[in-house]
Amino acid sequence: MKVTMIPGDGIGQEIAKSTMEVIDASGATIEWEVVEAGEAVYNKTGQLIPDEVFNSLETNKVGIKGPMTTPIGKGFRSANVALRKKYDLFANIRPVQSLGAIKSKFGPLDLVLFRENTEDLYAGVEEKISDDEMHSIKIITRHGSERIIRKAFDYAEKNNREHVTVVTKANIMKLTDGMFLDIAREIAKEYPTIPLKEVLVDNMAMQLVMDPAQFDVIVTQNLYGDILSDLMAGLVGGIGIIPGANIGNDLAIFEAVHGSAPDIAGKGLANPTALILSGCMMLDYINEGEAAELIRTALDEVLSHPDNFTSDLGGKTSLPEFTTILIEQIKKLKGRF
Ligand code: NAI
Repeated sequence: MKVTMIPGDGIGQEIAKSTMEVIDASGATIEWEVVEAGEAVYNKTGQLIPDEVFNSLETNKVGIKGPMTTPIGKGFRSANVALRKKYDLFANIRPVQSLGAIKSKFGPLDLVLFRENTEDLYAGVEEKISDDEMHSIKIITRHGSERIIRKAFDYAEKNNREHVTVVTKANIMKLTDGMFLDIAREIAKEYPTIPLKEVLVDNMAMQLVMDPAQFDVIVTQNLYGDILSDLMAGLVGGIGIIPGANIGNDLAIFEAVHGSAPDIAGKGLANPTALILSGCMMLDYINEGEAAELIRTALDEVLSHPDNFTSDLGGKTSLPEFTTILIEQIKKLKGRF
């Protein structure tokens, strides 16, 4: 199957190369169409996402991307947000799972966050009232809320998960978050075997740090989901290992949670695990689940040895070394799958 690969900026080129090599070694039959987008392309051409990227995504319907740099507080708007909005990739799914011997104070964890991906304060509706007053409008719709909440419940049902937690600040934002919570309560009635838990976002931040294992599937709006997913990544070893999927009705783009890490770009220090696991989510999505399981099993085995850790995990293994070790492990396991 043909898949669009957008390596992106900073460490993107390095981790994309590693990811393609690992997926190729798994035996999945992927034909990579590599196209460039992001800050580097913008500086060269004035276009953040050139037409060939859109064409490739629209033809292949499945993409995987590395991180893209976005200037903070000024300059062009996020290419990531633009892609999510253009293709209505409404569901951002982020599994947060313990891996190998990566140390965590929180015991083994297996959580999945469903973040609404197109609305909320990320809709980009901002207004300058005066030099001293700026407004940003929070947009929440019934349609947007229903589809992400239903996606979380469907996932919970299909994967035998125990419960779904809806996170809001409905005590303060009674209209926007109040409606989101009401919709969660309505949809929960369609899934009688899956209890709904309701937690306010400030309490959620504390509960996740005190006792994260009490949660299972979590569903929330865009901004809360963005912040909580980074917090959750910290519970299992950092953003170098957390994958993500942006799913719409007929197009999906898979990407790591982390950014372009300009501080370590080009040094061979980046951890490719997050993008490789995003690749596994992509393989599941295109019915190459066996290859995905092979890679996940190999990764867990490789990361069971702290000698193999990259620097973000406290180790000394370089990105090219890590890739070689992982591919060797995949080859060893291949007969068993
Ligand atoms: P960042 O995630 O790039 O980096 C935060 C810290 O984590 C840095 O110390 C970095 O070295 C480390 N890190 C991140 N990924 C790593 C990996 N795979 N292996 C080892 N260490 C890793 O976040 P930051 O610095 O806030 O953002 C940098 C740029 O990335 C910004 O322009 C931001 O807009 C962009 N960004 C892009 C995203 C995307 O394309 N999906 C997501 C988040 C940020």
